[in-house]
Amino acid sequence: MSTLSGKRVLLIIAGGIAAFKSAELIRLLRGAGCGVTCVLTENGAQFVTPLTLQALSENKVYRELFSLTDESEMGHIQLSRAADLLVVAPATANILAKMANGLADDLASTVLLATDKPVLVAPAMNVRMWLHAATQVNFSVLRGRGVLSVGPAEGAMACNEYGFGRMSEPAEILTAIKGILLAPQPLAGRHVIVTSGPTHEPIDPVRYIANRSSGRQGHSIAAALSALGARVTLVSGPVTVPDPAGVTVRRIESAAEMLAACQAALPADAAVFAAAVADWRVANASSGKIKKQPGAAPPGLELVPNPDILATIASPGPARPRLVVGFAAETDDLLANAQGKLKRKNADWIVANDVSSETGIMGGAENEIHLITSAGVEDWPRLDKQEVARRLAARIAEALR
Ligand code: CTP
Repeated sequence: MSTLSGKRVLLIIAGGIAAFKSAELIRLLRGAGCGVTCVLTENGAQFVTPLTLQALSENKVYRELFSLTDESEMGHIQLSRAADLLVVAPATANILAKMANGLADDLASTVLLATDKPVLVAPAMNVRMWLHAATQVNFSVLRGRGVLSVGPAEGAMACNEYGFGRMSEPAEILTAIKGILLAPQPLAGRHVIVTSGPTHEPIDPVRYIANRSSGRQGHSIAAALSALGARVTLVSGPVTVPDPAGVTVRRIESAAEMLAACQAALPADAAVFAAAVADWRVANASSGKIKKQPGAAPPGLELVPNPDILATIASPGPARPRLVVGFAAETDDLLANAQGKLKRKNADWIVANDVSSETGIMGGAENEIHLITSAGVEDWPRLDKQEVARRLAARIAEALR
C-alpha cells in the first residue's frame, strides 16, 4: 500500500459543519505516515476545537495572523514553505470567495494567497450556496488557476436539504491527496523555459502593436510541466490569464525583452516557444506621444525585424537546450509551413495549429495540433488547451528521460 511517509500537509479548516470530518481526515493522514499541521479559522473553531486537532495531528494548531508567539515560531510564509500540499477542508463558500478574489484578512486566507504550493479544496456548503452563480464563478476561477478539488458530493445535508454541497468523505480526500503527493515526477530536477502570450511592440508611450494571443496554451504547458516536477521559467508577454502555481514568471513586453529573459534563464533541459512573438518592431518609435497634426498625413511606421527567439536559442552550441519545441500558427499550407519552420529554426519539434478565424483556436479554449518531429507528423484530436498541455508535457518527459 502506498504511504505518505515524509510528506507534509497543511490542513486549513474553515467554518462549516463538515469541520468535524477533518478530525477523521487527520487520523487517516497520520495513519498513512503524513505529517499534518492545522490552520483553524475563527469560524472553524466554532465546529471543532483546537485541542482535538492538536491531539490528532500531534502538532501545534495555528489560528492567528497577528500572534507574536505563532509568528516567531512559524510565520505564515514558513507554514506554506514547510508543506508539500495545502488542503482546505472544509472549503466553505466564503473561503473559496476569498481565495478567488485574493483577500487576506486572516491566517488561512493569507497563507493561501502567499503559497506557491499545490492547493486542494474540498468544498462543503448548502446546495444553494454551491449552485449560486458567485460560488460557481469563484470555483471556476480557482480551477483555472490550477487549484485542485475533490467533491463536493451529492447527498443529505445537515440543513435537511438534499443535493450537491456535502464535503467528500475523508477517505476520498485522502485518495485525492495521495493522487497528488504520489504522482510521478518524471521531470524532477529538469529546468524548462516556456514562452507564452503576445509581445507588445511600442509605437510611442501609449500605443503599441500586438496580436490576439491569450497565453492560455503557453501557461497551461508551464503548469503541466510543473505538475510533472519540472522547474519552469515562464517568460510571458502581457496576458490576463493567471500565473500558474509553482512556476517562476518573468513578465516582459517586447520581443527583445523576451529574448533577453530567455537567455538569462539558460541553461535549460528543454524550451517550449508558445509565444506569439511580433515579427517586427517599430524602428522609429517615439519617446513622446505622437500628436495628430491637423491636415498632416498619418505618421509612417518604419518596421524592422525582431530577433527570432526560438531560432536564437535553438542555434547549435553548448547552451542549446536538449529539446527545443516551437509552435507554428498558420492559416494556409499548415504542414508544409510548419515543416519549413522546423528546419529553418533548428527546432526538434513543431506544434502546428491552424489559427484561421473559423477554427476559434487563437484566444479560444481548445486547440487541434499536429506534432511534427523528425519521425513524422502526428495529428492530435481537438482537445481542451489544458489537455494538449498535459499530453505535450508527458511527451517532453519521455524525450528527456
Ligand atoms: N518565434 C520566436 N521569435 C520570433 C518569431 C517567432 O521565438 N521573433 C517562435 C514562436 O514562438 C513559435 C515559432 O517561432 O514557436 C513560429 O512562430 P510563427 O509566428 O508561427 O512563425 P514566424 O517565424 O513568425 O513565421 P511567419 O510569420 O512567416 O508565419
